Amino acid sequence: MFYKNPKTSSKVLILVFLIFLCVVSGLWKVVSTRKTHEAIISEQCIQCHQKLNPGIYHDWKNSTHANAGVQCYQCHQVPENHLQLAFKEHNKHIQQPISAVVSPKKCANCHPKECAEYSKSKHANTIEIIWKIDTWLQQGMNNEIERVTGCFTCHGTVVELKDGKPVQGTWPNVGVGRKNPDGSLGSCTSCHTRHIFSIKEARKPEACGQCHLGPDHPQLEIYNESKHGTIYHTEGNSWNWKPEDGNWMAGRDFRAPTCAVCHISSVGLFVLKTHDVTERLSWEIQAPLTIHPNEFTPFPAQTDWKHERSKMGMVCLQCHSETWKNNHFSNLDAAIQNYNETYYQPAKTVMDQLYDKGLLSKEIYFDDTLEWEFYELWHHEGRRARMGTAMMAPDYAWWHGFYELKKRFIQLMTQADSLQRNGKNNSFSTIPGKYKNGN
Ligand code: HEC
Ligand code: HEC
Ligand code: HEC
Ligand code: HEC
Ligand code: HEC
Ligand code: HEC
Ligand code: HEC
Ligand code: HEC
Repeated sequence: MFYKNPKTSSKVLILVFLIFLCVVSGLWKVVSTRKTHEAIISEQCIQCHQKLNPGIYHDWKNSTHANAGVQCYQCHQVPENHLQLAFKEHNKHIQQPISAVVSPKKCANCHPKECAEYSKSKHANTIEIIWKIDTWLQQGMNNEIERVTGCFTCHGTVVELKDGKPVQGTWPNVGVGRKNPDGSLGSCTSCHTRHIFSIKEARKPEACGQCHLGPDHPQLEIYNESKHGTIYHTEGNSWNWKPEDGNWMAGRDFRAPTCAVCHISSVGLFVLKTHDVTERLSWEIQAPLTIHPNEFTPFPAQTDWKHERSKMGMVCLQCHSETWKNNHFSNLDAAIQNYNETYYQPAKTVMDQLYDKGLLSKEIYFDDTLEWEFYELWHHEGRRARMGTAMMAPDYAWWHGFYELKKRFIQLMTQADSLQRNGKNNSFSTIPGKYKNGN
């Protein structure tokens, strides 16, 4: 009878298993160290560019991307169906065509969700919006250089290429709504500067403040003077800006919100992170007459303001009670009604009467002093009063807001009154620095 020693057979089995392990792990090593096509090319990029632009190389080297194996060529490679993006001059350095412009379409290969949300946002579509509504641009009130160095740096340019080389005046540019040669909209580097592409950076208010500041939308200044901003400035450098477990949690990681917390980051399980900053808003505060976002005809939001308000409310509830939050929003709604009814609508009615009587010219905006007064009433003081209230900044709500709004209102009404009585208008026949045929 054949006797099978159980001990011997298990030894054989173990031996076979060990041999198998060695073979598999050896193979794995070969596979895992075999460089991808992109990695081999990227090494060449690095050889030159590490010396040429050490800043770029080190930013990339310290980034999450370098750590995850995302290299130069993956982002700068020219897609086969967009060969016009190829920077021809660069072929003298390396045969593979590269693109100087890297658009959200490239990022979308690996971050499709962020890119899809971003592309429908007001950020991405701002060029279309401002051309539709802004009288400065529509009527050529300012010239090309004033636009390139001002408006377009924040809003974005229409990027043009000649033999793949970006045309001066259209690039460099990292405006939120830049139009790219591949048809995509926006620039992810507005908030995640290259080549570190960091989540920590975008979570800090400074990332937003480069554009969200100044007399007409002082969100950064508002934040800085709010209790939230004060706490951030006092102790923000000890907060955990990128926890290991991937969740960024109120209380545990930070104890006062930044812009990102209220407008972008996720809140618990119910309010998801979003790259569309129109979410969570219930008002269109920058508009002359405050309306809800879905009523903003140049770019109507596909949102229900009550639902968005409840999402913003969930942000507050992480650190505040229901009553604290509700009372804050009641103050905001009352301030908006006060602005609309006490200041904006009466001023608008008087302006309309002056146009009807022919005391102001309808052809060009900004050729009458009263037009400047009215513009600043809603565009500067009127916005500051509303935005200061929305984001808990009493100095902006009152001294830079309703106080100056009141003063402007009285000045405007006094001048309108004298114009009605005397019929003498202060209009200008020429405006300096006016846009003409592209110069
Ligand atoms: C042999 C050296 C060399 C190699 C290899 C090389 N480059 Fe360059 N690259 C240069 C030089 C020099 C410039 C600046 C002068 C110019 O624009 O031609 C440049 C410019 C650039 C620019 C900027 C274009 C502009 O003017 O704004 C980008 C982007 C770029 N390289 C990316 C890459 C990538 C990605 C790779 C790898 C696929 C790569 N380079 C490989 C030398 C090199
Ligand atoms: C995750 C994508 C990504 C990776 C990886 C990447 N880049 Fe870039 N790079 C960009 C973006 C985005 C820009 C900004 C271009 C724009 O505004 O259109 C840029 C710009 C540049 C520029 C022009 C910037 C300037 O200031 O003149 C150079 C040169 C460049 N990259 C080289 C490199 C090199 C070399 C590497 C590898 C060490 C690399 N890039 C890796 C996305 C990337
Ligand atoms: C080839 C794929 C690939 C491309 C292309 C790519 N990324 Fe990434 N990205 C990754 C991977 C992988 C990670 C790491 C994910 C992780 O750690 O969870 C990452 C992480 C990030 C992060 C988080 C960084 C942090 O601090 O944790 C940001 C922001 C980011 N990418 C932005 C971009 C932008 C902007 C572009 C386009 C200019 C881009 N990525 C292009 C693959 C890519
Ligand atoms: C410092 C950056 C910056 C500059 C410069 C700038 N803007 Fe803006 N602009 C913004 C920001 C930020 C907003 C959003 C304000 C808000 O939503 O509260 C905005 C809003 C607007 C809006 C309102 C959009 C809407 O949805 O109602 C228009 C129109 C506009 N800007 C046009 C211009 C024009 C035209 C110029 C140049 C003459 C210009 N901007 C210069 C940053 C800037
Ligand atoms: C208006 C500023 C802004 C712009 C522009 C922007 N992002 Fe972000 N992004 C953020 C903020 C803030 C966060 C961090 C959210 C959080 O707290 O989780 C973030 C997070 C990310 C992450 C990390 C996601 C994760 O779950 O770890 C990726 C990837 C990313 N962004 C990609 C992109 C891409 C791609 C674009 C361009 C289409 C882009 N971002 C444009 C503000 C921005
Ligand atoms: C490069 C400039 C720039 C940066 C950086 C930027 N924004 Fe904006 N943002 C704009 C402009 C321009 C608009 C106006 C778009 C429009 O209405 O046409 C805007 C509009 C907004 C709006 C109003 C959306 C609406 O529906 O009315 C919010 C909210 C916002 N940004 C939040 C943020 C936050 C939060 C950050 C930082 C994480 C940020 N932005 C970074 C330029 C910028
Ligand atoms: C405590 C939460 C909170 C913080 C922090 C915060 N915001 Fe807001 N933000 C709000 C609320 C609430 C509103 C009004 C929402 C609404 O429409 O109901 C608002 C409105 C806005 C708007 C829209 C204005 C418009 O024209 O309709 C912009 C733009 C904005 N915030 C940008 C920022 C920026 C940039 C920062 C940081 C510098 C910031 N916010 C910080 C809560 C916050
Ligand atoms: C991460 C926690 C956190 C979040 C989220 C948060 N807050 Fe606060 N908030 C605080 C802290 C802490 C204070 C300081 C309280 C104190 O003075 O003791 C504060 C103060 C305030 C104040 C008092 C301001 C003053 O100057 O008197 C108001 C109002 C307020 N928050 C409203 C809100 C609203 C509305 C939201 C949501 C849109 C919100 N907060 C989101 C932590 C938070």
